[in-house]
Amino acid sequence: MYKCAIILAAGEGKRMNSNTPKVLHKVCGKEMINHVIDTMRSADIEMVDVVIGRGASTVKEATESRKVNYSLQKDQLGTGHAVMCTKEFLEGNDGIVAIFVGDGPLITENTVREMLQYHQKGEFKATILTSKMDDPAKYGRVIRNENNEVEKIVEFKDCTEEELLVKEINSGMYCFNIKELLNSLDRLNNNNAQEEYYLTDVIGILKSGGFKVGAFDVPVEEITAVNSKVELADAELIMKIRINRKHMENGVTIMDPNNTYIDLEVEIGKDTIIYPGNILQGTTIIKENCVLYQNNRIVDSTIENGVSVQSSVIIESKVGECTTVGPYAYIRPESNIGKHARIGDFVEIKKSIIGDNTKVSHLTYIGDAEVGSGCNFGCGTVVVNYNGISKFKTIIGNNAFIGCNTNLVSPVKVNDNTYIAAGSTITNEVPENALAIARARQRNIENWVVKKGHNK
Ligand code: UD1
Ligand code: CA
Repeated sequence: MYKCAIILAAGEGKRMNSNTPKVLHKVCGKEMINHVIDTMRSADIEMVDVVIGRGASTVKEATESRKVNYSLQKDQLGTGHAVMCTKEFLEGNDGIVAIFVGDGPLITENTVREMLQYHQKGEFKATILTSKMDDPAKYGRVIRNENNEVEKIVEFKDCTEEELLVKEINSGMYCFNIKELLNSLDRLNNNNAQEEYYLTDVIGILKSGGFKVGAFDVPVEEITAVNSKVELADAELIMKIRINRKHMENGVTIMDPNNTYIDLEVEIGKDTIIYPGNILQGTTIIKENCVLYQNNRIVDSTIENGVSVQSSVIIESKVGECTTVGPYAYIRPESNIGKHARIGDFVEIKKSIIGDNTKVSHLTYIGDAEVGSGCNFGCGTVVVNYNGISKFKTIIGNNAFIGCNTNLVSPVKVNDNTYIAAGSTITNEVPENALAIARARQRNIENWVVKKGHNK
């Protein structure tokens, strides 16, 4: 059976109080609209059409990688009107269309699949995702007849006092048989409190035409839509709990799930331990047996087995097996740190390669450099990679011992098995097996303090 989906995302989202279109606000690192698109795809719905209107070009750009179809709704005349704008996408197809909303990111793959099965099994022409709420507030009410069949949906603003008491609500998410939906859309009007074309009226139209309408009950959590920043935070919390639970089930130890922030696409290997205050973002991969001590932010990076990281920031970089990072290290984009290495406290690495077993233990800056294996950087080394106009490269071989407080003025090369004396400013190549000293020789002026009268 042909299955497709329409995602409504043309509305303005006034209550977000933001310059960003509502559906582009992120939940656990991903735009709400992309959560919905990806959920449709994982439920095997290939053809997805997004109805765009407000902020159309921005929404298009943000969803481009998903290869969806777009229908433009120039003026927002209601949810029914939005679906009318998808006629071209729907026409000529015989099958089922699922209709979801771009601001409802919490819907799960499982629920989408179950809804479609329920719809087909029950031979319904329309199925509404519904929920029961103690306080149904502004949701549309599902009205049933004396045989307990769904008869229609009445919008909050159009409800009678009696209808307002109904606790079964319309989630605004449905599936329809395409043919019957298209026929019913032609019969919508805007004679209602909001003078809008309501998609919800299709339900009453189908029912009065003698067709069966189903209601599929799901947990409120899944159909919660985001209309404000407060609700955005609510959605973030629900998604965060789901993500953390998944990792714990996969064998990751998370000490304080309330205080651990992991984006949806992050992967973590088993027996990794995560202390509070970690923020793992984007496409980060943390392999097995790592320890992420307190307060790290790791973005789009790969951390190999057995690494420990503490109070550090790692962005778009790789860290090799059993290396330790931090506390207070900053590894900037395009860095590649080897195995069994050490990047210690107050060390900044930028766009550099650091070889296996190399130790950069404290107070050091390395930028635009290639460093071999087995090197040791003394405290306070600076790679001087920038002359105010251009950046240059520094190359350091294997087993170099860089004394404390060394400046390496780029471009410069330090060959294998070399020593650099502490306090040197290196501007020329250091040949293999050499000791380089580049500092003023010490001179002692005898009795200077006494002569000057500075003695106490
Ligand atoms: C809708 C339902 C209501 C349901 C509620 C659940 C209707 C008439 N009512 O009401 O029964 O309980 O959702 O959240 O459908 N949109 C467009 N174009 C438009 C209007 C809306 O694309 O012209 C999009 C919005 O961007 C949004 C979605 O449709 O993503 C829902 O629209 P919204 O105005 O929030 O509908 P509600 O009044 O909440
Ligand atoms: Ca809404």
